[in-house]
Amino acid sequence: MKRWSIAIDGPAGAGKSSVAKILAGKLSYTYLDTGAMYRAVTYESIKRDITTPLEIADMAKSLSMEVTAETDGMHVLIEGTDITSHLRTPEVSAKVSEIASISAVREAMVSIQRNIADKGGIVLDGRDIGTVVLPNADFKVFLTASVHKRAERRFKEFKTIYSDITLEEVEKEIEKRDWKDSHREVSPLRPAEDAVIIDNSDLTLEETAELLLHMVKNK
Ligand code: CDP
Ligand code: CDP
Repeated sequence: MKRWSIAIDGPAGAGKSSVAKILAGKLSYTYLDTGAMYRAVTYESIKRDITTPLEIADMAKSLSMEVTAETDGMHVLIEGTDITSHLRTPEVSAKVSEIASISAVREAMVSIQRNIADKGGIVLDGRDIGTVVLPNADFKVFLTASVHKRAERRFKEFKTIYSDITLEEVEKEIEKRDWKDSHREVSPLRPAEDAVIIDNSDLTLEETAELLLHMVKNK
């Protein structure tokens, strides 16, 4: 059977990465978390105190970025250093949409993503996979859920690490990021015309992954 490229796009907390990981595992495909790449550029710009879009774009273009598959998921290495544990902090989350709206940053990331996806047998999750990165992907899903459900899911993950964070704060951060991602000029978050739209507000993670697997096998 041909090794497909599968695109999963959607807003924050919809379950994209978790579902993509399960799907890739069941199909013995590679999994690429493209959000982690934008987070890596954001983390590096904060660390190096680089603030202007032009300088951030130059940095992104010259960064040596490597992604590896580990047992606990995808890792990102910058100049050989594994920075994965720094990518999901509130500081990076608050800044990432702004960095991801710089078109030269997107061009640099899309080029790496297309190289990795070149041979097929891959599940990518992000915001613009079906619309820009792989417009000819074999199967496209736009995964979504109500903002409240998505915030509840993220809150559950956060509250063990950041004990003083509230559900309201998480919901506001998600709404803000979704708005920025959907309203930017370059590659805004939107479903591709040929994407299957799935609202998994009332589905468990396992049910969602099973549904997608069923769709892939029956396409
Ligand atoms: O996991 P979560 O949905 O919170 O975010 P993520 O997938 O790690 O993506 C972080 C941010 O990167 C998004 O809010 C977008 O601003 C940006 N992003 C993007 O612009 N294009 C992508 N293909 C993936 C992420
Ligand atoms: O990648 P994205 O931001 O779209 O979401 P995620 O990081 O895969 O999922 C956010 C959280 O929601 C994870 O803890 C998932 O286990 C959980 N989730 C869930 O409880 N039920 C679903 N149907 C989908 C995700």
